[in-house]
Amino acid sequence: SGLITLDVGFKNTGSTTSDITFLDGEKGILRHRGYSIEDLAEKSTFLEVAHLLIYGELPSATELAKFQHDISMHTLVHEDVRKIFDGFPATAHPMGVLSSLVTSLTAFHPESLDPNRNSEAVDLTIHRLLAKLPTLAAWSYKNGQGHPLVYPNNKMGYIENFMNMMFGLPTDEYEVNPAVIEALDKLLILHADHEQNCSAATVRVVGSSQASLYVSISGGINALWGGLHGGANQKVIEMLEMIKADGGDVKKYIDKAKDPNDPFRLMGFGHRVYKNFDPRAKIIKKHCDNVLNSLGVNDKTLEIAKHLEEVALQDEYFIERKLFPNVDFYSGIIYRAIGFPVDMFTVLFAIGRLPGWIAQWKESREQKQAISRPRQIYTGHTLRPYPSK
Ligand code: CMC
Repeated sequence: SGLITLDVGFKNTGSTTSDITFLDGEKGILRHRGYSIEDLAEKSTFLEVAHLLIYGELPSATELAKFQHDISMHTLVHEDVRKIFDGFPATAHPMGVLSSLVTSLTAFHPESLDPNRNSEAVDLTIHRLLAKLPTLAAWSYKNGQGHPLVYPNNKMGYIENFMNMMFGLPTDEYEVNPAVIEALDKLLILHADHEQNCSAATVRVVGSSQASLYVSISGGINALWGGLHGGANQKVIEMLEMIKADGGDVKKYIDKAKDPNDPFRLMGFGHRVYKNFDPRAKIIKKHCDNVLNSLGVNDKTLEIAKHLEEVALQDEYFIERKLFPNVDFYSGIIYRAIGFPVDMFTVLFAIGRLPGWIAQWKESREQKQAISRPRQIYTGHTLRPYPSK
């Protein structure tokens, strides 16, 4: 139809107006509700940023205390959720487990199914999600290990509690290393929102049919899992390990990435919007050395990553196409230094991105966004006779 404009991959299509996140890809600027990502990463905590994204303002001390309290009241998941875990093989990827379990929350908390519920009821679902995602994430890891689950401890802060459920034992609390908590807090902030990226757009699309907040978020988790989106953080480490095992020859892999006949890409490189640099990658790179030093970790892949970046940034192919390291390039090195297994990296991204997804969903519902229903240009058969038998 002459009325339809085609924009495959939505490279130049705005899907909404939004007050949440400002992004200037040419200048490498990222701001949430007007605050620069640099300021937020340096001065805020993850829950403060979550409050900012979801409710529009940084919380006062009283508001923050209430927000923390409201979240901590919902960290437990229904005991029957454990039975669902039993059905997964130990080899299940935690992202698949997580999205299934988030969907299962609709069964335990059907209040979320009413699209016309009042804002207090919406807040309850929001608190439940923020509270339960770390529990489900840590449990999907423990379950895969075949280890006993560690229950949430509401005396602990948001990140400390998550670390305890991941690395503590039911009988023995995780020993807090403030440097680790701080590093993780910062990383989660850097992942908290990124306007209409693939997973946030998915959350809005699912929500536009008036499906529940839980399943909208579950849709976001699934979209994030792919290697071109959040799944890249796992793929970066796998790539760096491959280069390391191959003698550290970065040039060989750069040539491979440039070869139009080879599907290999430099993982953690390139971005749909950033065409100068990714401000999040800059901050993470800076922290990478500090965190590894403070943990006493000497990781050869960090050296390879820096070398790869240096060589790629001088290469005509990457210069011409404006390809720079993105948020996923250095984050995995920190996650691994902290002790996270590689298949949990994208789960960490999901925990970080959750406030952004919630904010995007909430805004789209408040905007009464129409159901998302793009058109197409049909290129198949014209009418043909049904074959006679
Ligand atoms: N390595 C080699 N070549 C690349 C890369 C890369 N990482 N990224 C893009 N290109 C080339 C691509 O082949 C194309 O070249 P040509 O014009 O000759 O065909 C050109 O650059 C433009 O790429 P595109 O695929 O049209 O760009 P896009 O905006 O559709 O894709 C991207 C963006 C992030 C999916 C892509 O850069 C990519 O696949 N990067 C690797 C995966 C990755 O790191 N993803 C994480 C993204 S950031 C945060 C997140 O979402 O998790």
